[in-house]
Amino acid sequence: MRIMFVCLGNICRSPTAHAIAETIGKQRGDNYVISSSGTSAYHIGQSPDPRSVHCGLSRGYNLNHIRAQKLEVQDFYTQDYILTMDQQNYLDAKEIMPDDAHAKLMRLMEFHPDSSVNDVPDPYYGGTKGFDKVVSLCEVAITNLFNELGSVKS
Ligand code: 4NP
Repeated sequence: MRIMFVCLGNICRSPTAHAIAETIGKQRGDNYVISSSGTSAYHIGQSPDPRSVHCGLSRGYNLNHIRAQKLEVQDFYTQDYILTMDQQNYLDAKEIMPDDAHAKLMRLMEFHPDSSVNDVPDPYYGGTKGFDKVVSLCEVAITNLFNELGSVKS
């Protein structure tokens, strides 16, 4: 099962979700193939934002191996799930989604148990609290996502 998380820059929210999914998946003994990307080309090749790296590490998630890449049309054929961090990311991804896509395109927060939570707010222009909130929202939604998907061995 291949899962790609998508935000705007692929340096804050989606690499955080990426690292959390890798860690929780490993803890569960599942074998998901996790990746992440951005709808923009702004940060291609860059490491995650140091604020996301620091915040992730403080909660047990390592983002250091992740490098920003852009969401490409090809990803809709190779991924099983493409999960966006907010509604704008969803609309931008849908714009390039081919008619015969294999991947299911959804917002990650569709898996959050609080149905009033729709988006992972962009922390880029805010303070530390925003980065912490990204981790908390993603932890809950990804745990639920994996429970729904069940134990996957390939
Ligand atoms: P992300 O955050 O989409 O969570 O990676 C952002 C990163 C960079 C920018 C905006 C949002 N930017 O405008 O450069």
